[in-house]
Amino acid sequence: MKNYFDFILPTPVLFGPGMAERLPTELRRRGLARALVVTDRGVREAGILNPLLAGLDAAGVTCCVWDGVVSNPDADSVREGIEVAKRNRPDALVAVGGGSTLDTAKAIAGCLAAGVAEVFALREVKDPRASLPVFCLPTTSGTGSEVSYWVVITDRRTHEKVSIGDPALSPTLAVVDPLLTLSLPPRLTLWTGLDALTHAVEAFLSTAASSLSDLLVKEAITLVVKSLSCAVDVGDNLEARGDMALASLLAGAAMQHVGLGLVHAMSHQVGGFYDVHHGLANAILLPHVLKFNAPECPDKMKTLDNLVEGEGFMEWLKRLYEKYALSGEKVEIKEEDIPTMAERARANVNAQTNPRKAEVQDIMELYRKSFKVVE
Ligand SMILES: [Fe+2]
Repeated sequence: MKNYFDFILPTPVLFGPGMAERLPTELRRRGLARALVVTDRGVREAGILNPLLAGLDAAGVTCCVWDGVVSNPDADSVREGIEVAKRNRPDALVAVGGGSTLDTAKAIAGCLAAGVAEVFALREVKDPRASLPVFCLPTTSGTGSEVSYWVVITDRRTHEKVSIGDPALSPTLAVVDPLLTLSLPPRLTLWTGLDALTHAVEAFLSTAASSLSDLLVKEAITLVVKSLSCAVDVGDNLEARGDMALASLLAGAAMQHVGLGLVHAMSHQVGGFYDVHHGLANAILLPHVLKFNAPECPDKMKTLDNLVEGEGFMEWLKRLYEKYALSGEKVEIKEEDIPTMAERARANVNAQTNPRKAEVQDIMELYRKSFKVVE
């Protein structure tokens, strides 16, 4: 346990049902009157934006909407967003969507500040600065991106998911309103919820974990155990949605301080090579990586067990996966890609805080155990 730590959460948070209504006031009191709303087509078509846009309009904030965000965002989609921002000259970005949307908005702001058109060039910028305030309104409960200064962008040429992080990329304000998540379909609720769970579990087992991060993630895990199934089965259950939104936020706040682990190091490769949903890839890997890690952290595994009343954590997870037919058989990976993915996973920043050191051979085996391998 690390009990010397820095813990800075630069992004203020407004949390609770109905909090999105405060967005116009939050812009106006910062003197902002021209917003570019960054979103994807699914969120726009679900009608989630309508009350937000009406509220902004009533407050005298001029809005233009760009719905070009793609899942597993890449350099091209960020570039398109930069061009839209340059044409519209907003004084704020309002990101409404899942992790891909929030990351895209943060990347656009970072690139504009640095004067670069290619998002990967941000890695070379010594002192990045966010030029535009970014307001994050998550419509999923999973990534924790609303309080994180990391963005993950896929390099389509090399199939790598590149993590770019700097405190300057921190959102200006996170508005976490569980009402915005009510229409999320069951499958996406499950996958994003399991992403939040994976963040919490990996941050808990991280070699950089602190007593403060442990407090946050233990609460996050308890909330997921209590409410994930209900949020999937009864999408309009506001209490369950609120629990999941809080779990995602707590895990997100913890993970950027203490890092993650091998699940994320490996799932980023699966996302980069095969465009698999991030939450699904994590969900498939989680039980296998936990079994691999368990001998190195028996006390923490016992604590995880104690967070699930009446059965162990792994038993609970198994039951959940059976209920929703979650299995690696449904996602194919190619045998020829496994060595490269394993090399990259071992070198990935998330692997550095995994409780058990994994060699390339270990990781190749974990890939083969977790997914359906095809020639
Ligand atoms: Fe994640």
